Amino acid sequence: MIDMPKLKPTLRQLRVFESVADELSFTRASEKLHLSQPAVSIQVKHLEEGVGLPLFEHTGKRISLTEAGRILYRCSQNIRSVLQDAGEQIDELMGFQRGKLKVTVATTASYFASRILAGFASRFPQIAISLDVTNREGLLEQLESNRCDLVIMGEPPKGKRLKSMPIMENPLVIIASPEHPLAARRNIPVKTLAAQAFVVREPGSGTRAAILRFFEGKNVSIQITMEMTSNEAIKQTVQAGLGLGIVSRHTVELELETGSLVELDVRHFPLLRKWYLVRREDKQMSPVAQHFASYVLDVENH
Ligand code: PGA
Repeated sequence: MIDMPKLKPTLRQLRVFESVADELSFTRASEKLHLSQPAVSIQVKHLEEGVGLPLFEHTGKRISLTEAGRILYRCSQNIRSVLQDAGEQIDELMGFQRGKLKVTVATTASYFASRILAGFASRFPQIAISLDVTNREGLLEQLESNRCDLVIMGEPPKGKRLKSMPIMENPLVIIASPEHPLAARRNIPVKTLAAQAFVVREPGSGTRAAILRFFEGKNVSIQITMEMTSNEAIKQTVQAGLGLGIVSRHTVELELETGSLVELDVRHFPLLRKWYLVRREDKQMSPVAQHFASYVLDVENH
């Protein structure tokens, strides 16, 4: 019987041995492994010392496996397949290949978030991505109930146990139809806006909260004639001449370019806000979420 304590093959020795057994030639195995022939012979010799029996027999110039060699060859293949299996399971556990990513973004952030997610998905096609879009209040609820990996939102509230990183600017602008009487005016004082009808987002929206805070700070009360949960609906209502709108510039890039909407030149505008990538402080980030966070910082900072 083989003296087991002496049989302590290294994975490298087994790899070399398997290669010689596959090729039935020390020369061809050494070429395949990019090693010198003496290096291959030494590895096999060490294995044979551990086993206590020859692994190959030589008949003239040809070699073949001995009975001990055949046993070791089978074991070696089993070890390799077990290790490969373990590697695959660990990969899966780490979630690189088949991981899931749950991102929730503010309604307004969806204008650029889908572009970021599309870039990430094409780099890591096996990751299943789910994107949820809701307003600021909805985002905070999702963070509270730990329902997503990461969120993209406006400034996160103080006092909550959140970790946040600024990722890009979010300028809020006042939009009007090109026929609006204020469209051609320059340097419009904020007070002038008090007489105007406004179409704004619903309560719970971060954009709305920022606008109301701004006018309150300036002691100007604007007339809100319509509230809408969608930036698209606001744009269409403003285009139809039913009031002014205040939205993130991200949402109106195309319309400003084609001239179907104009950005009013009002003092203190654009209001400068930022977008943040946010997660719960106590949430253990999955490897996929960590990858996504560094991807976002990378694409937005270059
Ligand atoms: P929202 O945007 O208006 O779509 O909620 C979030 C924010 O600006 O904080």
